Amino acid sequence: MTRLTPAGPTPAGPTPAGPVGPDDAMRIALAASARVHGTTSPNPPVGCVVLAADGTVAGVGATAPPGGPHAEVVALAQAGERARGGTAVVTLEPCAHHGRTPPCTDALRAAGIAAVHVAVADPNPVAAGGAEALRAAGLTVTVGTLAPDIVDAVAAGPLRAWLHAQRTGRPHVTWKFAATLDGRSAAADGTSRWITGPAARARVHTLRATSDAVVVGTGTALADDPALTARDVDGTPLARQPLRVVAGLRDVAPGSHLDAPDVLHVRTHDPDEVIAALHARGVVDVLLEGGPRLAGAFLAAGRVDRVLAHVAPALLGAGAAALGDAGVGTIGDILRLHVARVELVGGDILIDALVGAAPGAAAPAGAADGQVVATVSAPRPADRSGSTPDGSGP
Ligand SMILES: NC(=O)c1ccc[n+]([C@@H]2O[C@H](COP(=O)([O-])OP(=O)(O)OC[C@H]3O[C@@H](n4cnc5c(N)ncnc54)[C@H](OP(=O)(O)O)[C@@H]3O)[C@@H](O)[C@H]2O)c1
Repeated sequence: MTRLTPAGPTPAGPTPAGPVGPDDAMRIALAASARVHGTTSPNPPVGCVVLAADGTVAGVGATAPPGGPHAEVVALAQAGERARGGTAVVTLEPCAHHGRTPPCTDALRAAGIAAVHVAVADPNPVAAGGAEALRAAGLTVTVGTLAPDIVDAVAAGPLRAWLHAQRTGRPHVTWKFAATLDGRSAAADGTSRWITGPAARARVHTLRATSDAVVVGTGTALADDPALTARDVDGTPLARQPLRVVAGLRDVAPGSHLDAPDVLHVRTHDPDEVIAALHARGVVDVLLEGGPRLAGAFLAAGRVDRVLAHVAPALLGAGAAALGDAGVGTIGDILRLHVARVELVGGDILIDALVGAAPGAAAPAGAADGQVVATVSAPRPADRSGSTPDGSGP
């Protein structure tokens, strides 16, 4: 995999034996939160590192599934007495309220933590106030003052969907699709497997495993009979599976993969009804894998927040377009996106773009206009083969 642009801080490696600064501790906390991404909704996937008074890592924790301990409590338990006089480094502001578990602020105080570094403030008015509560108790607290690339990586990382849901009151929707360079998602005869290579298709399974729900329209359900499960490269189901959702008025085919009791079928053409049904089930992070019509309807309704476009360097010329009517009738209404990241995945180009963000809001640090940050030295014909037994795809 060759990066075309930087994609944020390097993931944390093994826990260092010696003292670490708050920036490095936050990288470790971010990596811990990434490991639980997709297992915590409706709670946020938070990571926490407890540094002992000498600056060495005493505990690392991440949010347990709902009802279980929060990241701070996990890290404090690991640190034990070494937390006294130490520093907690947390991706999200510690909660100050009684939910299903007691306030994390109480746990930090009781453990004798002296200082807390937080990357992102909690936008939830019910849970917020943790920083103030800790300051009032005499702890030193900083919020968002670490290296900007780390703070950005936390906000755009595993916490992204949860932060969005807190701010807007609805789940975060990522529309993922695969297309050729000329924007086709199928050939003229309707065949579409496979446009992208195995590496891009494997990515989809990771995405499903970190999403709360995967949504398609009845058109895709009937045309492709997708399983919509998250599987590894051998085709073995991953431990965590998203809620599978079909939108549309028609029935799915009897005996098809999505004709199953655990599949939610929302019989509507209103994207907000789909979103409300998911919200009611505690879904925070939605992966929209529908075809052109459902994607167009969600975009027209302003209900897509992020686009993941897997673009194959291939041409079809005719065939279905990747996107149907998205409510754009004139060039003045064009839906412009803001590119957060561009990456080569196998032989395909992944464009990660945000809908409705301010220009440059999520541009990767260090990327400049016209800058060539990586070159590809050799074509990857093997990645085009549909015969690679990677077990991926719908
Ligand atoms: N390349 C890719 O990334 C990709 C991804 C997915 C699918 N596809 C391809 O897309 C093709 C299917 O396209 P498609 O557009 O029919 O699939 P789709 O968008 O998944 O499903 C369309 C159906 O969704 C229902 N629906 C729900 N809300 C709607 C709304 N607001 N507006 C319109 N329809 C709504 C309608 O079903 P009812 O009539 O039942 O109400 C409609 O017929 C397949 O060939 C598949 O291979 C490609």
